[in-house]
Amino acid sequence: MSEPVIVLESLKKYYFMGEFVIKALDDVSLSIRKGEYTAIMGPSGSGKSTMMHLVGCLDTPTEGKIYIDADDTSSLREEDLAYLRNAKIGFVFQQFNLLMKINALENVMTPLMYAGYSIRQRREIAENALEQVGLKDRMKHRPNELSGGQKQRIAIARALVNDPTILLADEPTGALDTVTGEQIMDLFEQINQQGRTVIMVTHDPEVSSRCRRTIHLRDGKIVEDL
Ligand SMILES: Nc1ncnc2c1ncn2[C@@H]1O[C@H](COP(=O)(O)OP(=O)(O)OP(=O)(O)O)[C@@H](O)[C@H]1O
Ligand SMILES: [Mg+2]
Repeated sequence: MSEPVIVLESLKKYYFMGEFVIKALDDVSLSIRKGEYTAIMGPSGSGKSTMMHLVGCLDTPTEGKIYIDADDTSSLREEDLAYLRNAKIGFVFQQFNLLMKINALENVMTPLMYAGYSIRQRREIAENALEQVGLKDRMKHRPNELSGGQKQRIAIARALVNDPTILLADEPTGALDTVTGEQIMDLFEQINQQGRTVIMVTHDPEVSSRCRRTIHLRDGKIVEDL
């Protein structure tokens, strides 16, 4: 078996709302190995997005630890954490989160801004990523000139330009029709076959059945891990 790339240790995320405490994640421990393809399921409010934000180092836990490649993320300085996030983790969201005023190519180029590449290199890397998702011929289009599935492909290309080892996707097919969703799942499968670790939140049993492991959350706890 390959080594763990993501380890969560007694992870808690509590929100304190006046006299109430919302336990969005309540003592979650989990180990994900390199190259695994995992679905996260569970009812609305069960903590799925919270978990993805924590794993992606976009948010910090109330208690507990997150290790990425054996690095304890709580001990990293902000700049090292930003580096880790940028270099190792790609994100894909349900609503694509593309910048509307720039074209597809420019959207895909944005994560490369801080990596010290020339404009020419950035363009080349972004064009290759667009080619991989089958959308090089749409690179001059702005997001509102593209279909939902095409927008998600652009978002996936953007998530891949830094060659991350981990890809996190929060309901990537949630805004798409069934056929388009299946095409996006084909793409995730290819990305996983390249050796990348993929974690995907989904409500759809069809989608999770294509992942090799499914973790169910309820009330911020893992209730099943198959
Ligand atoms: N910033 C916040 N402040 C307070 N409570 C929050 C905040 N973010 C999330 N929560 C609460 O934490 C719980 C878990 O939310 P989370 O977004 O992780 O759920 P989810 O499983 O992704 O749900 P969905 O399937 O609807 O996307 C919910 O009860 C939610 O209301
Ligand atoms: Mg969510």
